[in-house]
Parts: sequence; structure tokens; C-alpha cells
Amino acid sequence: MSAFHYQNDELFCENVPVAQLAEEFGTPLWVYSKSDFLGRLKEIQDAFAEVDPVICYSVKANGNLSILKTMNDAGSSFDVVSGGELFRVQQAGADTSRVVFAGVGKTDEEIRQALKADILMFDVESEAELDAIARIAGELNCVGRVALRLNPDIDAKTHHKTTTGKKGNKFGMDIERATELADKVLKDEHLELTGIHMHLGSPILSTDPYAKAVKKGAEVISQLREKGHNTNWLNLGGGFGISYKTDEGPSAQTYADVIVPTIKEIGCRLALEPGRFIAGNSGVLISQIVFTKREGGKLFYIQDGGMTDLVRPAMYDSYHRVWPVKPKVPMPFDCEGEIEGCEPADVVGPVCESCDYFAKDRYLPPMQRGDYLCMFSAGAYGSVMSSNYNARPRSAEILVDGSENQVIRRRETYEELIALEQT
Ligand code: LLP
Repeated sequence: MSAFHYQNDELFCENVPVAQLAEEFGTPLWVYSKSDFLGRLKEIQDAFAEVDPVICYSVKANGNLSILKTMNDAGSSFDVVSGGELFRVQQAGADTSRVVFAGVGKTDEEIRQALKADILMFDVESEAELDAIARIAGELNCVGRVALRLNPDIDAKTHHKTTTGKKGNKFGMDIERATELADKVLKDEHLELTGIHMHLGSPILSTDPYAKAVKKGAEVISQLREKGHNTNWLNLGGGFGISYKTDEGPSAQTYADVIVPTIKEIGCRLALEPGRFIAGNSGVLISQIVFTKREGGKLFYIQDGGMTDLVRPAMYDSYHRVWPVKPKVPMPFDCEGEIEGCEPADVVGPVCESCDYFAKDRYLPPMQRGDYLCMFSAGAYGSVMSSNYNARPRSAEILVDGSENQVIRRRETYEELIALEQT
């Protein structure tokens, strides 16, 4: 069961009433459940335990230092995509020898930083990047461990803005080039081919793309081994889907069932980079209704949370369940369509953009100024994608652990908005 639940007609996170947090720390407010983060990580650890994988929590989903520390303490490793993310995991006390580094545009400085941190491997996205790693490893007199990020040309049926494993996407290299690229690595004394990497897109609700990818990956590894490469890692990236609407998100075991047998068959190490699966349903965004109005035949709930907090609806037309913290109608299992006692309304933010909304024509219980509202499934790609547009300070983040809560990022101040500027 999720840590976010209604009890006596009000929303709780673990044992803490969410309204109490909103009153104490103000809104908009990110609220995370430590037990949900740990529970989701454990679900993956248990499902794949048979092949002893390295689970590299994807920092981009939610990189708050306290979250990273929680993940690290629970045995997770990390997937980073920038020098900044590497810095974050170092600050969280991570063992960098288990960190993987993806990203199409790694700079020399970032490559140097990662080589010095002796990371497990670079997920290399172009031939030019191989050259850059070899050159810098030469300068530092070390060896760069690399996994070729291959584009398997699999349609993972995600939103077009979050698909990555189809031909024509900017990520990785064509799978047909694997042996040619591997031979290049073999010839370079400053490179070591550790494995291959694929990331298919996000979120992926079906296991089919993984079944195809693991087969393609296994074929490439066998080919490379025949040619004398010691290719020992298959990194299948992230992308495991979650339930945003009802219970559409598969369990970790469902994904493991299609991946593990092939890994055992070829006898290689498995790395995974889950982000959303761990963070997505472990956090919510709480806002407060500022005004309600009826215009143009529509009911609008205008609240203090905006696209500067949670940009996913504006950016990807993403669906998030939205329901009051103290609702006059209990939240149904399925919030889509008509709901008795509710009226269709738009939930919008204060930002001067028409795309600044959280829900459109959604059946919601009656609400008034001052009521708190919850945007569910906002733990992944929420606070990390927030911005200061319209000079809006970034919101505070709270981590709940049982009956305790801790501010893990305080709200930004107006002074901090201008702190780096000069006149
Ligand atoms: N590994 C690589 C190489 C990735 O590019 C990503 C996500 C992940 C792992 C983690 O994927 P996850 O397990 O979280 O699905 N902002 C978008 C999602 C962008 C995902 C980018 N890459 C959203 O809000 O839906």
C-alpha cells in the first residue's frame, strides 16, 4: 500500500497528516515518503536478486541529497548524466566505483571528473566521445571503462518526447556498429570495453520492449565475446513504468521475469537505472487554492502550485491524479470520467502561460479558497525540473519517516532569486 492514504477523510503521508505539513511549511510543498522510496528500491532488489544486479538509481528523477543518501544507505548505486549529478552522489557519500555515467554531451571537464572518481563505466553515446575519453584517460594515465550505448531501434511506445531507443533519436550508436566500435576500443590502451548499455525510453508500461532489448543485448555480447572482448555487463537502463491513473504500473517481478532468464543464460552482470519506478509514487506536490472562478462556462481552481513546480502536464500533457487533502467526496480508485458529487473543473497555476495547468475538465469535489490540493505521483521529474520562471522561488521538500518529518530542502527566498546577479 502507498504511504499516501486517506484516513478519517484526510490525506496522510505515512503517519503524518499532510495538511499539518502544509500549514507548518507553506505551499507549494513537496512531500516524500521514505518508506515508499525504500520499498520500491527493495521491490527491484528482490525481483532481480537471483542475478545480483547493480541497481543504479537514476539521479535525474529526484536528486535531493537526502534522497540520495537514503538510497545509498539502502545499497543502491547511481546513474548520473552530468558533472553536477556526479558531485551530488559524491556529496551523498556514494561509492563512485559503482556509478554509471550516461549523456550525449559529456564535456572534457566532466569526463576528467568521472575518471578521477574511478566510476564503474561511461555509457558512451558516440564515437567522438570514445576518442575524448581515451585522450583524457591518456592525460591522466589511467584507463576509462566504457559501455557502448547502443540504439536497439525498439519502439517502447512512450510519449514522443521521452522515447530514446528508436533509430533517429539522439541517444547512443547504431546497434549494427557494435563490433566495429568494440574493435576500436580494443586497440586503445586507455579504454576498456566493460559492456553495453541500452535505455529504451520512459515510462514503459509493457515488458515487451525489455524482452526484445535483452535478447538483442545478449546477441551483441555473444558476438563481442567471440571476437575476444571481455564484455561482462549488460546495462538495460531505466524506464520501468508506474501507476499514474489506477494500477497500470507492472511490478518489478513482471520486468524481472522477462530479463533475468537471458542474463543467466549468457552469464553476464546486469545493471539497471530505475528512476521513476522508485521516486514517482513516493512523492506528491501539495498546493493551496488561491481563488476559484467561473468564466467562459468553466469552473477554475486557481492554486499556488504551477508549472514552475511540476512541469510535466505542460511539457508532456502528463496525467497526475489531483484530489483535495481534506475531500468532501472520497477519492475513487479511478479519478477519470464522471464522479458523483463532483463537478468538472480546470486546476490551473498562477504562471502567465496557458499551459500552466495540472488538470483539465476533471471531476473534482467542491473546493474553496484556502483548501489544500494534492498532485499525486509527483516524486519523479517533479522538483528536479522546477524553475524560477516568473521569479517564483523553488518550493520546499519534506521527507516523512513514520511519524517524523524533516525539511530536506528549504523554500528559496527572494534574496536567493537575485543572489547571483549583478547590476
Ligand atoms: N537511464 C537513462 C539513460 C535515462 O535517460 C533515463 C531517463 C533513465 C535511466 C531513468 O528513466 P526512468 O527509470 O526514470 O524512467 N522528464 C520525463 C522523463 C525523462 C526521462 C529521461 N531519461 C518525465 O517527466 O516523464
